[in-house]
Amino acid sequence: MKIGHVRLEDIISIFVGKYGDQVQQLLKKVATLDVKIICPLHGPILKENLEFYINKYDIWSSYKPEDDGVLIAYNSIHGNTKHAMEKLACILEEEGAKKVVLSDLARDDMAETIEDAFRYDKLIIASPTYDAGLFPYMEKFLRHLKHKNYQNRKIGIIENGSWAPAAAKYMKEIISPMKNITICDPIITIKSTMNENTIKQMSELAKDILAN
Ligand SMILES: Cc1cc2nc3c(=O)[nH]c(=O)nc-3n(C[C@H](O)[C@H](O)[C@H](O)COP(=O)(O)O)c2cc1C
Repeated sequence: MKIGHVRLEDIISIFVGKYGDQVQQLLKKVATLDVKIICPLHGPILKENLEFYINKYDIWSSYKPEDDGVLIAYNSIHGNTKHAMEKLACILEEEGAKKVVLSDLARDDMAETIEDAFRYDKLIIASPTYDAGLFPYMEKFLRHLKHKNYQNRKIGIIENGSWAPAAAKYMKEIISPMKNITICDPIITIKSTMNENTIKQMSELAKDILAN
């Protein structure tokens, strides 16, 4: 069947992220076709370099990381968690991390941070305890990842709390049902501000998350 000068079987419209399984099924069918054009429902019409794009669809829909790197996504009300995460970024680089990206979930672009979570193979999440719960931007970030079927990653967890830390428990609750997630050791509790023990624990976490 032809629509104008384009064959129907050449028109492919696919979603990735949320619908990885469906995209994988479609890619199997596409493998037998001579694809001339890709018409995504939410993007530009693609007519050139199609092998490159189909490979991208394959990576995204199978939830494989694109790059070797660590995303540190954090919240910080007064700046202490931020300060600790900047130190952790230095430790990770000293330990040989190829790429470390820091994201302040309350200030940086949330969509970019979600994109980086999918791009890199490792994620570290850090949040203050907020009224016996999780700081809202962290909750929003993790629920968004869950909604998009985030999986196949190594995750490090760091909480801050001054009198009754509970953020790690809530972060773990959201990420535990995700598929093929490895939670790295140790899960770290900062009591308001980073100290020598925090730095020691962050070095252990860096080694664990970077280990193959
Ligand atoms: C509004 C508010 C509520 C908080 N609630 C708790 C809490 O329930 N339990 C707790 O241990 N710490 C609580 N804290 C302290 C923070 O978790 C954290 O220790 C502190 O903000 C230091 O981290 P930061 O400098 O990165 O913000 C609260 C802080 C604020 C400002």
